[in-house]
Amino acid sequence: MTVHFIGAGPGAPDLLTLRAAKLIAQSPVCLYAGSLVPEGVLAHCPPGARIINTAPLSLDQIIEEISTAHAQGHDVARLHSGDLSIWSAMGEQLRRLRTLGIPFDVTPGVPAFAAAAAALEAELTLPGVAQSLVLTRTQGRATPMPPRETLANFGATGATLALHLSIHLLAKVVEDLTPHYGATCPVAVVWRASWEDQRIIRATLETLESAVDASVERTALIFVGPAIDSQDFAESQLYAADYDRRYRPTGPAPRFPESA
Ligand SMILES: C[S@@+](CC[C@H](N)C(=O)[O-])C[C@H]1O[C@@H](n2cnc3c(N)ncnc32)[C@H](O)[C@@H]1O
Repeated sequence: MTVHFIGAGPGAPDLLTLRAAKLIAQSPVCLYAGSLVPEGVLAHCPPGARIINTAPLSLDQIIEEISTAHAQGHDVARLHSGDLSIWSAMGEQLRRLRTLGIPFDVTPGVPAFAAAAAALEAELTLPGVAQSLVLTRTQGRATPMPPRETLANFGATGATLALHLSIHLLAKVVEDLTPHYGATCPVAVVWRASWEDQRIIRATLETLESAVDASVERTALIFVGPAIDSQDFAESQLYAADYDRRYRPTGPAPRFPESA
């Protein structure tokens, strides 16, 4: 028996990995984080599977469900939205399972920021514009931010920011970031990336608050930074005809001879 922790992707049922779909289809028990994992993803469950929405459950109750499945020898597909490495609450579940000696494995998923960037048709690390992407959030009711992880500190780098769990705090986003990026800095909000009703709102820091109406809530990502819609960037060296590289040696004395 194994508990399969599975990144269930940003929402579209066909944005699961092949491995995820196979594990879900093989598991007689499925626990899913119903606040973000849409029901369409559950179509991969086998007929007769025990399917439980964990949104209303406590950690103790979730572990109890897993322990029951373990006692019965049933594999469990444990679904969280996007990828499991960010804001999934997987860490606390794994810690309990390690203590209980219940085996598990972890299958990555497509994170929401990647689906949202795809919706924007944007490369977030354009040469000469931004070479870093910061995945962060603002402070929530339940989760304090470590003191140095402030928007201002991240903003001081000028990197592209992907702000999660923050759509209800636009005024703070604008106030904290405008001194670093300027009022005309491009911003994009992607609501329900990859869902059928996905929406994209493009704005600047100064127009953001008026551009986003109250119907855009919860499942939304905010990107801030010049890379969001820049066309004014250098081409990379990756495909430059005169750049000597291992896979395309060039010039009178290539650094990487063809035999290397
Ligand atoms: C608890 S976090 C989960 C993040 C997830 N583990 C991931 O890898 O993307 C939830 C936040 O992720 C973002 N999010 C999740 N799914 C999204 C989607 N389909 N479109 C836009 N934002 C999404 C929103 O900012 C939401 O508040």
